[in-house]
Amino acid sequence: MIGLGIETSCDETSLGIVADGKELVSLKIFSQIDLHKPFRGIVPEIASRAHLEKINLLLSEVLFESKIQVSELDYVAVTNSPGLTGSLMIGAQLARSIHLVYGTPIVPLCHLQAHFAVLHLEGVPPLFPVLGLLLSGGNSAIYKMEKFGSMQTVGDTMDDALGEAFDKVAGLLGLPYPGGPAIEAQAALYEPSSKEKDLLPPLLRNLETDRVAFSFSGLKTAVAHLLAREPNISVPKVCYHFQNTAFDLVERNLKRAVNKTGIRRVYAGGGVLANSTLQSRLRKFSEENSLEFFSPKKKIYCTDNGAMVAALGYYLFRQGYSKSFDFQVSPVRQETFL
Ligand code: KG4
Repeated sequence: MIGLGIETSCDETSLGIVADGKELVSLKIFSQIDLHKPFRGIVPEIASRAHLEKINLLLSEVLFESKIQVSELDYVAVTNSPGLTGSLMIGAQLARSIHLVYGTPIVPLCHLQAHFAVLHLEGVPPLFPVLGLLLSGGNSAIYKMEKFGSMQTVGDTMDDALGEAFDKVAGLLGLPYPGGPAIEAQAALYEPSSKEKDLLPPLLRNLETDRVAFSFSGLKTAVAHLLAREPNISVPKVCYHFQNTAFDLVERNLKRAVNKTGIRRVYAGGGVLANSTLQSRLRKFSEENSLEFFSPKKKIYCTDNGAMVAALGYYLFRQGYSKSFDFQVSPVRQETFL
């Protein structure tokens, strides 16, 4: 079964073609980072205009590369939540157009769940129940999933997402946008002493001991105070400690989510998983805690992309889920749609 996946929820325009939910045939991504860079964040109007400009070109490219005709597609999966409404509408319109011309069934889906389905393109078998750890520019959460098309939140962020904290702290340090890769590169330059003490206070110290929750806005403020107190402090040192403090909270939450649900199989995804220090910490943590841990091997699969949408679309379509052209888009995540 051949499926097209369309992703336009935020600042990547991406189309992917996938065979049988497990084999990548073609993937094209246009990243809008350079367009948003001057504003140090995503400007919704710029995002939707850029999606509109690029989407047909990307469609031609994936079709050319895969040597597949639109009429041969078995389904068109498209992100319809969550995201910027104007951006979601561009992807939705392409799916509707294909449906109207070729009668191809549409599989609208929540792209947060697609971040986990991308792992099936790297050989991870689709087994449930599973915990989904999502760390991106807009989300920091842990979900419990018992089937495709449904997830329950175990813990969410109270304020900023982790990627957002990377971006804001990079701004404080005079590093480029997006902050994640820049902070990771700076942190790697720092050599901590064997007795290195934490520079920044631990996050959510007073939270109930069984609660799973993220909060990163206090960490950003703590970095701002540190820089005000010590304006000449080394940037690599601050980056190293920022990452450590943030990742400590990720591990603590994962441990709590496992204890709460009894689920020991974990899928992780989202832009922040491109961070090698986080990946290796989570792998070590999983070994020590007897967890089965899976995260994307290809960095391109961490970020929003059309292949993950096509992969999740395959499993949903196989279970009989599809919509006609009058489906809606929503800025709010839809935890259950099947
Ligand atoms: O999933 P994603 O591509 O898209 C959105 O959520 O929009 O995530 C983007 C986020 C940005 O905040 C970026 O700074 C962060 O992922 N990111 C990273 C790294 N690469 C990207 N954060 C930490 N380390 C990285 N290497």
